[in-house]
Amino acid sequence: MRAVVWHGKQDVRVDSVDDPRIQEPTDAIVRITSTAICGSDLHLYAKFPRPVMRAGDILGHEPMGIVEEVGRDVTQIEPGDRVVVPFNIACGSCWMCDRGLQSQCETTQNRRYGKGASLFGYTHLYGAVPGGQAELLRVPHAHYGPVKVAEGPPDERFLYLSDVLPTAWQAVVYADIPPGGTVAVWGLGPIGQMCSRIAFDRGAGRVIGVDQVPERLAMAQRHGIETLDFASVGDVVQIVREMTDGRGADSVIDAVGMEAEGSAFERVLQATKVQADRFHALRRSHDAVRRGGTLSIVGVYAGYMSLFNIGDLFDRQVTIRMGQANVRRWVDDVLPLLEREDDPLGTDDLATHVLPLEEAPRGYKIFQKKEDGAIKVVLRP
Ligand SMILES: NC(=O)c1ccc[n+]([C@@H]2O[C@H](COP(=O)([O-])OP(=O)(O)OC[C@H]3O[C@@H](n4cnc5c(N)ncnc54)[C@H](O)[C@@H]3O)[C@@H](O)[C@H]2O)c1
Ligand SMILES: [Zn+2]
Ligand SMILES: [Zn+2]
Repeated sequence: MRAVVWHGKQDVRVDSVDDPRIQEPTDAIVRITSTAICGSDLHLYAKFPRPVMRAGDILGHEPMGIVEEVGRDVTQIEPGDRVVVPFNIACGSCWMCDRGLQSQCETTQNRRYGKGASLFGYTHLYGAVPGGQAELLRVPHAHYGPVKVAEGPPDERFLYLSDVLPTAWQAVVYADIPPGGTVAVWGLGPIGQMCSRIAFDRGAGRVIGVDQVPERLAMAQRHGIETLDFASVGDVVQIVREMTDGRGADSVIDAVGMEAEGSAFERVLQATKVQADRFHALRRSHDAVRRGGTLSIVGVYAGYMSLFNIGDLFDRQVTIRMGQANVRRWVDDVLPLLEREDDPLGTDDLATHVLPLEEAPRGYKIFQKKEDGAIKVVLRP
């Protein structure tokens, strides 16, 4: 089969590799019809994460398709079913799964490296599981994971159930926005876009989105979001405070993660505090939360952060929640919205590029560089 394979920094290729086979009675093989590129894939693409990635690893964790074959213990799906595959691999019956913490599943946890549940296409720290940017995918624990969806609507209606929507949903739940309250969303990539829309749907009074990419700001505006271009407005935190009676936002969601860009203003600010690093978005989102408010971190971070101002967060009584999404935990909340004719979350307008799998290298490049208006790139094997 053909698959998107990691070779090194900014070097992904579409290679011919062996077809996957059923290995365990709980496996399924899914023929992939659509598979998206995620901001999380950019961490693997932008950096040089050897030895956690190795040349030959198959990328991708946002797939859907048609079940081709199932192992003898898989009864919830059968060949011919249309399914979306959650990005975390979970057993559905351990202590963590019972508590809705599928991203910490104790059956698939990677204890050797002190990491949580295995993920598709996401490094040797998270199970070295071949990913879903491929013609075929072996799905472990398929007796639990894959979600059956209706025939009819285009793939893009359901595809984001694999990651973007449950992730954004969890971020909004964790943000604990009071009814009618204000949430500021740092980063208007696919995750930030959906956090903003879900926040409105769940009763936020006001959503302020922060980014610097014109078409991302414009997409958010089309959905009723007030936007701030951090590259041109100066002190974003100050502006958010002014917009909220001087207090700051009730809730802030950091949907940027570790590829954050800094504006000229932020670089100067950080230089004065000796904080020249790539935590711009996280530091600014800390600052924008009001006293007694909540910061929900959905952007991915790895390793240590220097000069973390715990004293300020303590004084201002800020609650912080974060983590990898527990995809299965939120499916029953999200799926009914996707089955509605009126598409309340606007999933139909998120994908800006639908490309053949063979064009994956271009897809990665335009998504990373934000060229050609790319906001979400979907690949069709
Ligand atoms: N927690 C989870 O389970 C989970 C799941 C999926 C994605 N993620 C993470 O969410 C983050 C966003 O993913 P995405 O697919 O939307 O990616 P993306 O890279 O398209 O989005 C990031 C956005 O942040 C903007 N940005 C950069 N620096 C900024 C700054 N200083 N201030 C404000 N905005 C800034 C970028 O312009 C971009 O629009 C990534 O870190 C990704 O790894 C987490
Ligand atoms: Zn993802
Ligand atoms: Zn489990």
